[in-house]
Amino acid sequence: MNRKIDFLIIGGGISGLSLALKLAKLTPDEKILLITKEYLAECSTFYAQGGIACVWNNNDSFEKHIQDTLIAGDGLCNENVVRNILTQAPERIKELIELGVEFTRNENGDYDLGKEGGHSERRILHVNDQTGQNVEQKLIESIKKIENVEIKEHWCAINLFARNFQCYGAYILDQKSEKIHNVAAKATILATGGAGKIYLYTTNPDIASGDGIAMAYRAGATISNMEFYQFHPTCLYHPYAKSFLITEAMRGEGAVLKDVRGNEFMHNYHSSKGLAPRDVVSRAIDAELKKTGDDYIHLDIASYKSPKFIKSHFPGVYESCLKFNIDITNEPIPVVPAAHYCCGGVLAGINGKTEVKNLYVIGESACTGLHGANRLASNSLLEGLVGAHECANSLAEQISDLKVKEFKQWEPGHAVPSTEAVIITQNWDEIRRFMWNYVGIVRTDKRLQRAKKRINMLLDEINQYYWDFKIEKNLVELRNLATVAKIIIVSAISRKESRGIHYNLDHPNKSEMSRATTIRRPW
Ligand code: FAD
Ligand code: SIN
Repeated sequence: MNRKIDFLIIGGGISGLSLALKLAKLTPDEKILLITKEYLAECSTFYAQGGIACVWNNNDSFEKHIQDTLIAGDGLCNENVVRNILTQAPERIKELIELGVEFTRNENGDYDLGKEGGHSERRILHVNDQTGQNVEQKLIESIKKIENVEIKEHWCAINLFARNFQCYGAYILDQKSEKIHNVAAKATILATGGAGKIYLYTTNPDIASGDGIAMAYRAGATISNMEFYQFHPTCLYHPYAKSFLITEAMRGEGAVLKDVRGNEFMHNYHSSKGLAPRDVVSRAIDAELKKTGDDYIHLDIASYKSPKFIKSHFPGVYESCLKFNIDITNEPIPVVPAAHYCCGGVLAGINGKTEVKNLYVIGESACTGLHGANRLASNSLLEGLVGAHECANSLAEQISDLKVKEFKQWEPGHAVPSTEAVIITQNWDEIRRFMWNYVGIVRTDKRLQRAKKRINMLLDEINQYYWDFKIEKNLVELRNLATVAKIIIVSAISRKESRGIHYNLDHPNKSEMSRATTIRRPW
């Protein structure tokens, strides 16, 4: 099935939807197709809890937010990018308010500003503890009113069509009809989010399999800083609670980390205790768990705040924990760290421009230089908004120079329906487990080499399977997951120091000459 379109946006989270909204207004005569792998609202954006960082009151300043971001990024942020993105925050937030997002207010009627790890001021605008859900819903309501945006749910991009560093569009699997479309576009924009599903424990929803990063890599783009996969310190520990985050904002309101015997420990690791940057807190928890042999630690808010305060500030966490028989108003919450955010990604400008012509990448899939070696909490929704804004302006400016060119149909070759789906689940489980054990919070040279050996073996097997069997979403995801896992491993091996999130026991110090990691085909 051949289709021609002006703009193809892959992804319907904060970055994809914001881009579609802006682009539709700036280029009303162009046709935009936005696709999502699952139903529209299913994305990391929907699950965001804490909020969006923005300098909003007079005690705060852009300079303070910039410094906090640079400190968290541990020497690898691009300061110009940091300045550009953070100083745009108030404008971008006002646009969300105009769309109808009702950020939580305090008793005085002012916006209630939350605090999270690494922030020197209260500056997190939030909608209780369900910020992402509210933002995503308002964006969806708005996009549905726009005529020149067509939305296709359950359409999974398989691969880009690119030749000589130029992108012409993408092959897309319609999961319902099982047909493969080749969609030719003047520009293709990846807004595909992160890759948390590479790890055994993650806060991310199932869509986060690194598809955009793997597709861009195959198309010839440079992938940068992938060794910096951020681990969130507090994910609910419960056999049936898949991926449920306990927001850092809870520590911002006084919740304390303790071992299961009730002993506080964070003072042994950092003067800011539980509000130290995420890498420090996650490593501290990891060290405590290894020392004590416990399976989890506790996050205690019940001892410090009244049930009324807890229920009004954290209604989402309260209700979700109650479903697992944990009443957070009178008992501590069992938590563990989990993979949360991809600080690296496809090397791109703030406007999403990559080295592959007509291929743009925005949001969590992009590496713009904002996060460096470690992302400051609540800076990523903001990056998605700014990336979308800049990308829309950039595409609108070039519109008269952009041309659409059709490309060849998908060739199924000798592929037959899969008879052994077990291979997919087996490989998937294996990757997630060794990534967690060998390429997790604390790494060593030996563990990284072990992981490299295994991923090379699995990639051979998966590539064979990919060409032999009929395309389905699980297989597309597995192949991408394995590709991104290898990029993370190779990046981690090449970094002979410990910096930000990347901590290697064999190279515990920072090197003086540190720079971003870049990976490009072939390895
Ligand atoms: P996403 O919102 O993840 O959207 C990705 C989209 O791409 C989806 O629509 C998906 O279907 C689509 N897609 C992916 N692959 C394909 C494919 N092959 N074909 C078609 N479509 C595809 N950040 C903050 O700043 N503040 C917070 O409070 C915060 N809390 C968080 C809480 C949780 C639990 C999680 C997981 C993350 C949180 N983050 C937070 C991070 C932030 O939510 C994400 O970085 C951000 O939402 C990413 O937005 P995005 O638009 O790049 O991608
Ligand atoms: C949280 O609410 O703890 C998540 C914030 C973030 O990831 O930025």
